Amino acid sequence: MSLVLPVNDESIALASTLLHEGKLVAFPTETVYGLGGDATNGHAVASIYKAKGRPTFNPLIVHVDEVKALDPLIEWTERARVLAKAFWPGPMTLVLKRAPSCPASLLTSAGLETLAVRIPSNPDAQRLLKATGLPIAAPSANASGKLSPTTANHVADSLGNNVDLILDGGSCQIGVESTVIDLTSEIPVILRPGGITREQLEAALGCKVAVYSASTNAPMSPGMLSSHYAPHLPVRLNAKGAERNEAYLAFGITEGNAGAASLNLSPSGDLSEAAANLFAMMRALDTPPHSGIAVAPIPMTGLGLAINDRLRRAAANR
Ligand code: TXA
Ligand code: MG
Repeated sequence: MSLVLPVNDESIALASTLLHEGKLVAFPTETVYGLGGDATNGHAVASIYKAKGRPTFNPLIVHVDEVKALDPLIEWTERARVLAKAFWPGPMTLVLKRAPSCPASLLTSAGLETLAVRIPSNPDAQRLLKATGLPIAAPSANASGKLSPTTANHVADSLGNNVDLILDGGSCQIGVESTVIDLTSEIPVILRPGGITREQLEAALGCKVAVYSASTNAPMSPGMLSSHYAPHLPVRLNAKGAERNEAYLAFGITEGNAGAASLNLSPSGDLSEAAANLFAMMRALDTPPHSGIAVAPIPMTGLGLAINDRLRRAAANR
């Protein structure tokens, strides 16, 4: 059974210690319970995907306690300032461009140039965020494909031993997830309806807000466009080694690649470590003078499904 503790000074201190160690802590927000990990620690972020059993990497929302904590993470826009003032802290998530030296792991963004950020209003969430001083990546604290949790018991039922600590702050006040709004294109787009309505957003912004649906031409959510995850160089999968001029992305023990620029996703063959390194290493190898990136075979188990999904997209015809 997972450890469930009521929110008090001791449990918050323990939660903060665990998060700094890269462990996972489930915590209440005003929408649903989140499964939190240190957003700046790729291993912690990889273990979030693993704990949820998410079959592909769907980008995660980063939570902070106050507006100025977002400065290092994202590029502010005028609209973002307006919405932040109107609806934070609260059930709204903004998708913005990552700041140039954004410390959040690329896996948090699932390799995208954007980052989803939110300032929750729930006092227990605020307490935790203030205690850690870290940006916390947190999807809903349920097993992938299952209902979102609105009590600590739901989290324990859904995630069992896959979470190091569950903070019990009672039932969530809102009970549906935050509104996700993408501010990176000319027209703001609601990617996921939630606690803040389109009308509220339009009134605050003084402009039209589109709602994403598969049948409109509104910008898509990530994970649907293969090019989103594609590096500049061509990618060759299931490669036992690099050909001339290729860079090599290895996994596990390799026989050496004479001359090739090479990085290893996980020398010990650990899929969580590989997931944590995937996007950053792809980027590092995606430079001239290489002619392409050859990638070692990755096992199709556990997080290997998500890694292979992204690799397939990266290698797909553009
Ligand atoms: O209320 C909530 O938002 C809860 C609490 C814990 O804050 N969190 C939550 O996270 O619902 P999750 O992972 O279950 O849903 C996050 C949604 C997904 O639909 C994801 O695709 C979208 O936000 N998202 C995250 N980052 C994005 C990005 N960079 N661009 C577009 N969409 C993004
Ligand atoms: Mg969810």
